[in-house]
Amino acid sequence: MNMANMTFPFGTTNGVFPLFFSEEVTSPWVLATLVGGAYLLSSTLSQMLSYKYPVFGVSSQLEPIVVSNFRFFRRAEDILNEGYQACKDKIFQFRRVDTDMLVLPYKYVEDIRRLPNSVASPTIAHVHNLMGSSTNMHITLRNNLHFRTLQLKLTPNLNSLTRPMQEEVTFAVEKELVVSEGIWNQDALLTVLKSDAYALDEWVTIKPYHTILDLVARGSARIFLGKPLCRDLEWLEVSTQFTENVAEAQGYIVPDEDKHNILSWMMEIATHKEGEASALAHLEVVMSLASIHTSQMNAVHCLYDLLAYPEFLEPIREEIRAVVAEAGPWMNWTKSQFSKLRRLDSFMRESQRFNPPTLLSMHRVLLQDTTLSDGTVLRKGAHISMPVNSIQNDPEVTPEPEKFDGFRYYNLRQGDGQGHLHQFSTTQDRILNFGHGPNACPGRFFASLEIKIILVRLLMDFEFKLKHGNGRPANLRAHEFIFPNPDAEILMRRRPSSERLLLY
Ligand code: HEM
Repeated sequence: MNMANMTFPFGTTNGVFPLFFSEEVTSPWVLATLVGGAYLLSSTLSQMLSYKYPVFGVSSQLEPIVVSNFRFFRRAEDILNEGYQACKDKIFQFRRVDTDMLVLPYKYVEDIRRLPNSVASPTIAHVHNLMGSSTNMHITLRNNLHFRTLQLKLTPNLNSLTRPMQEEVTFAVEKELVVSEGIWNQDALLTVLKSDAYALDEWVTIKPYHTILDLVARGSARIFLGKPLCRDLEWLEVSTQFTENVAEAQGYIVPDEDKHNILSWMMEIATHKEGEASALAHLEVVMSLASIHTSQMNAVHCLYDLLAYPEFLEPIREEIRAVVAEAGPWMNWTKSQFSKLRRLDSFMRESQRFNPPTLLSMHRVLLQDTTLSDGTVLRKGAHISMPVNSIQNDPEVTPEPEKFDGFRYYNLRQGDGQGHLHQFSTTQDRILNFGHGPNACPGRFFASLEIKIILVRLLMDFEFKLKHGNGRPANLRAHEFIFPNPDAEILMRRRPSSERLLLY
């Protein structure tokens, strides 16, 4: 379903003509007819004027934008794949209610990564995509303090943050997870309460989405705010719910004693103007939301994929045991021990390939007309992106893309000079889940470490199984976004003590 053969002059906004009514036009029906007619006319005209590139996901030139938008909402993956297959080397376009988005072929990745932010803005594009004013994301437009803090402070200090994160995840697993209502269902809670404080020797039902959200939120809070604020239940709520309350968050802007967390670092490097308490509170919440949900979804997908492809589990556990044998108890591990978990790292990357958080990445809004290396001119105002999912599932990029091979990247890393490539956090010009270049996700190294810390604990200390012979819980999709099913239930029980992770 496309209008791939039609091309029209370019434009990005869907304008509605101004309406003028005489005072006699009072009947609501007449008014509704006029408004509706004018809307359809303007939408159609703007549509006709707005296609410079082949357009996909639109059935006819006369189709109202709401219909095309709904189709993209339901079938984004098919539409983007159709466009990619048909236009591999060329730009195509699709329609969302908020914008006509241009999708670029991967030959332009280098062009896009080189464009300065003053010409092609990632932040304006993200804020627009995440509905900035309703989610308060627009705070990131004021300055790039969040980006600088992650890049200049968080990533270089990951080694010293490993132990605090392990402590917090251990705290969550051992204390909070077992007794906190809302994470375990009622049956699980009763099982726990009836037995000694920590009995999960029976199978209990969990919703991994919520269980893992709790672990990620707590591990992240320790690094975002430090102790003891990270254990504050209100903060944990604020940082995981999309109902941001900046006033509430402002109460947390109290420097921590050890000055070794994101808040203290932001205070340290902020200019006078950037350092206002309300702005810092705002950034803390926005960053927490961005980081917690992305990492949590990735970890949940990994768990579901391990249930769907159980043959990878024992080799991963074997690798973990090997690191314990070499480096000692888990609590003594530094970042470099986690980097030795190459099978786990590969599994995480393959799971991300199968379940990317979004089908599109490297979003940019052009702030001026831009000429690409082959002379193609993109107009000011265009919203551009890369079809990350179609690219990484192209057999030229990933052989046998339909096959889930948890150790695909582990095997690639065995090649000469390849040892440091193909990692979960490595971006490549055709693996774009974190973007690529100077604007690539500045939190990806942290995400990689945090997900590993959580998965190692869960996989070594617990076993999991699907309920009643169910298959892998199906993902949910909305527009280009993909989510693990938040309501899916699986079974979990504790492994015998002889098989659990040596902690101390
Ligand atoms: C698996 C987890 C994650 C995924 C898949 C992910 C993905 C992305 C992507 C695709 C971008 C846009 C890159 C571009 O424009 O080219 C991005 C930007 C960003 N990410 Fe992540 N991310 C993850 C985790 C995190 C974490 C843990 C943090 C914070 C600790 C974080 C903080 C940010 C920030 C601050 C930006 C820049 C936003 C801006 O332009 O203002 N991300 N991320």
